Amino acid sequence: MQEAATGRVLTWGLAQLRDLPWRHTRDPWAVLVSEVMLQQTQVERVVPRWFAFLDAYPTPAVCAAANLGDVLRLWQGLGYPRRARNLHAAAQSVVELGAFPTTLDGLLRLPGVGQYTARALLAFAFESEAAVVDTNIARVLARVAGRRLTAREVQSAADAAVPREQAWAWNQCLMDVGAVLCRPMSPRCHECPLAIDCAYHGVGDDPAPGSAGVSGRQSRFEGSDRQGRGRLMKALGDGWVAVDGLATVMQWPDQGGRARRVADSLVADRLARFDPATETYHLP
Ligand code: ADE
Repeated sequence: MQEAATGRVLTWGLAQLRDLPWRHTRDPWAVLVSEVMLQQTQVERVVPRWFAFLDAYPTPAVCAAANLGDVLRLWQGLGYPRRARNLHAAAQSVVELGAFPTTLDGLLRLPGVGQYTARALLAFAFESEAAVVDTNIARVLARVAGRRLTAREVQSAADAAVPREQAWAWNQCLMDVGAVLCRPMSPRCHECPLAIDCAYHGVGDDPAPGSAGVSGRQSRFEGSDRQGRGRLMKALGDGWVAVDGLATVMQWPDQGGRARRVADSLVADRLARFDPATETYHLP
């Protein structure tokens, strides 16, 4: 990206960066919690849950000392509860290490922390020169390039674009270009600071779908196994569920086999526990 383009993105962004609570902190734990929540949950839904989580677990030490069951209970309704299990495990790693890692390699060793989250921590907590590629940024970069990019290409394009000393602002601004202007459908190109640099500019074949890092539509929730898992996790938050009660709790009256299989998938993911003596499921 040209230097002039970088400047235009920063000017646009700094004037209208969305006022999101995690943008007021540089605490790596608070940033990690926000990024993990934002990976699969929309911003508006994350805001109150982020405050509630940090209220209960203000530091990695407090979270590490908690029961996984309690952390999962607090996660209730956010979905994808493996994220909560990973956060709990990451908190325990940070406690064992004595401090938050501050390098890419160190961060990547934390449970559940992949390329995206590690770079988000570098840029947003430590303000170091990392380039974050989330689905919004991946879409912007593919459209500017005018073609589908490979994972390597999108990360290099993002790396090359980070202005010195401004990684925090740059990544937040570019994310907002993606979230607010460069929307998946009907992008607002006439307001976009990258319009003159953009090969796509909203006309013709959209290079974003299928480009690396650009997520597809989330699969249907209604009637899915994920819905059943969510219902069971919610019930387990209130107490044990017997094998015989699974189908009722999951609202799959004639699908006992499916209910059992899906319950066991939670056990395999270490999100629930099965007690063979009483034939009941519990939170871990
Ligand atoms: N999505 C992922 N990370 C984000 C952030 N820091 N701000 C807004 N949306 C995000």
